Amino acid sequence: MWDPATYLRYRDERGRPFHDLLARVPAERPRAVVDLGCGPGTLTASLAARWPHARVAGLDASAEMIDRAVALDAPVDFAVGDVRDWRPAPDVDVVVSNALLQWVPGHRELLTRWAAALAPALREDPVDDAVGYATLLTRAGCAVDAWESTYVHLLPAPADADHPVLTWMEGTALRPVRAALDDARWADFRAQLAARLAAAYPVRQGRVCFPFRRVFVVARTGARPPHPPEESP
Ligand SMILES: C[S@@+](CC[C@H](N)C(=O)[O-])C[C@H]1O[C@@H](n2cnc3c(N)ncnc32)[C@H](O)[C@@H]1O
Repeated sequence: MWDPATYLRYRDERGRPFHDLLARVPAERPRAVVDLGCGPGTLTASLAARWPHARVAGLDASAEMIDRAVALDAPVDFAVGDVRDWRPAPDVDVVVSNALLQWVPGHRELLTRWAAALAPALREDPVDDAVGYATLLTRAGCAVDAWESTYVHLLPAPADADHPVLTWMEGTALRPVRAALDDARWADFRAQLAARLAAAYPVRQGRVCFPFRRVFVVARTGARPPHPPEESP
């Protein structure tokens, strides 16, 4: 059992690594911050002071520690719970943990799981090219017809409107980014992206040339055996 009073006897000494750790975290305006294994909550309260606009939460398995933390009356949502059951909400931008993981069996797997769950909104390599899908489906035993086309769309670009490629992306690829950011960070991201798109897709004679690449695959099942038949000797 954890005794908050005993633990806090060396609060300054125990707190130093926490502050050294936080000094290396560059987040400016995180939406939500979580302190896992927050103990008596004094250090968690300093997170709320650093990021007053963030929703700050502290989680600890010890009811005694959490009672002590709640008594601080800090703007932090403290709760009793096991970090092995914790799953990040979509708006969690900073996860802090000090002097916890050595107490948690299986913490290496836990770190891997958290890293995957906190993956960014923008996916890397979300699709293959036509060769990739043709190979995949041929291996699955299909007869495949695959190709790629690039449609060059000439999008109207009125001077008083947003860049048309930005508007195009807002309907598709930017949706998860919008969902992941608050209004201020979205406005900042959008302005930076608009400047880059304007450079990458310049407006000429009131229009933007927008190469729009599509991959087509027609796959017919049952047409071929999954692997070429063995050659007879
Ligand atoms: C050494 S204290 C650190 C407290 C605080 N992070 C700090 O830096 O002062 C370790 C804390 O981890 C908590 N803890 C240990 N195993 C845990 C688990 N599986 N889930 C949640 N908390 C846990 C304990 O209850 C204890 O409060």
